[in-house]
Amino acid sequence: MRKLPRRIRPTAVRALLATGLAGAVVTTGLAGSAHAASTLAGSAAAKGRYFGTAVAANHLGESAYASTLDAEFNAVTPENEMKWDAVEATRNTFTYSAADQIVSHAQSKSMKVRGHTLVWHSQLPGWVGSLGTTDLRTAMNNHITQVMTHYKGKIYAWDVVNEAFQDGSSGARRSSPFQDKLGNGYIEEAFRTARSVDPNAKLCYNDYNTDGQSAKSNAVYAMVKDFKQRGVPIDCVGFQSHFNSASPVPSDYQANLQRFADLGVDVQITELDIEGSGTAQATSYGKVTTACLAVTRCTGITVWGIPDKYSWRSSGTPLLFDNNYAKKPAYTAVLTALGGTTGGGGGGGTATCTTTYARTNVWSDRFNGQVTVTAGSSAITAWSVNVTFTSPQKVSTTWSGTPTWDSSGNVMTMKPNGNGSLAAGASTSFGFTVMTNGNTNAPTVGACTAS
Ligand code: XIL
Repeated sequence: MRKLPRRIRPTAVRALLATGLAGAVVTTGLAGSAHAASTLAGSAAAKGRYFGTAVAANHLGESAYASTLDAEFNAVTPENEMKWDAVEATRNTFTYSAADQIVSHAQSKSMKVRGHTLVWHSQLPGWVGSLGTTDLRTAMNNHITQVMTHYKGKIYAWDVVNEAFQDGSSGARRSSPFQDKLGNGYIEEAFRTARSVDPNAKLCYNDYNTDGQSAKSNAVYAMVKDFKQRGVPIDCVGFQSHFNSASPVPSDYQANLQRFADLGVDVQITELDIEGSGTAQATSYGKVTTACLAVTRCTGITVWGIPDKYSWRSSGTPLLFDNNYAKKPAYTAVLTALGGTTGGGGGGGTATCTTTYARTNVWSDRFNGQVTVTAGSSAITAWSVNVTFTSPQKVSTTWSGTPTWDSSGNVMTMKPNGNGSLAAGASTSFGFTVMTNGNTNAPTVGACTAS
């Protein structure tokens, strides 16, 4: 996740717009030799996607769990910790400790976080269902506002509404306190409230049994189409993708993702798990991965847990790692579909990073520069970038990094402030203000080195 320079003043923005220099981004410092990635996150990042997992806070202390998470994934979804019963069991008393643990772990590794979920009929405390209509509306909007405010700026995408439609052929809305008391309009209201709280989070509708064309997915499709036409804020649709032999990967899985993407929303695979074992399971996992990659707006895949033993349906062994965190054939199928290569040799796992430079603000006597550091196809724990300025330029301030200077005073070596961990493909930025003293040249950003 990108950190922005702390100080962006309205006057600076006007100056920037006036000079037309906004968005001048230069790619620099391509470091490291190209090699196929050997992790899920790394190979997904190489395809411009994230690869995530559901995480339970109470497992983070288990070293094999945490090390598998950190090595293989660059996105997380709290499995239960952000649900209504977890954060607001009692009206207006908010408890974030478990979810915060997951979010801070993710942030320390620059992993994306999917927020799950704001409005859902399940894992809903009893008090919500007992409210009258007016009170329920207030409670729903308050819940969205409080939770999204607490996590503002930290969430890549929110499942604003989860599972609002019925299974079967009716295409009808599912009965819930929200549906029954507030009527169809509650979904729209939830999205509008969500947008007003955190305009930078992507807002998703999420559901299951919508993975192929069906009466249920058609109903969701009609809703999303209507929202897009009327300007109701929606950015993405999540496809849970819980599969087993009774509910296998549909043959039109990719086509279904594509028709939603064609409405102008991102699509994400949000809770993937496929019961089974061996080759059959691996083949299904490969199909899902290939389908996502074939849809430009499929921005990432999240599996619903790390080892089978912690799956919500562990008896079906539906995940990519076995109970001892060994990689299953399903893992290899996903990695291969992502274009990655399995372990050992060939330089897989080498720490690399790249940089881009942008001039973000311009004044008459100075400008701000920003360097974004992006980890390559493996997670990194530290990075270093040299930035060379032209005399008589002087750097008056820097942020989001720890600089040291050479004896000429022109070459700055920037290293992370404390923790330099970045998940594969994840980015961070540092910045500086350059007093031009008459010279407006862009600095030279040298190669990025990582370890
Ligand atoms: C599941 C969790 O995995 C379980 O631990 C919990 O007991 C019940 O919920 N659809 C969703 C997820 O959107 O939140 C559900 O997660 C699985 C189905």
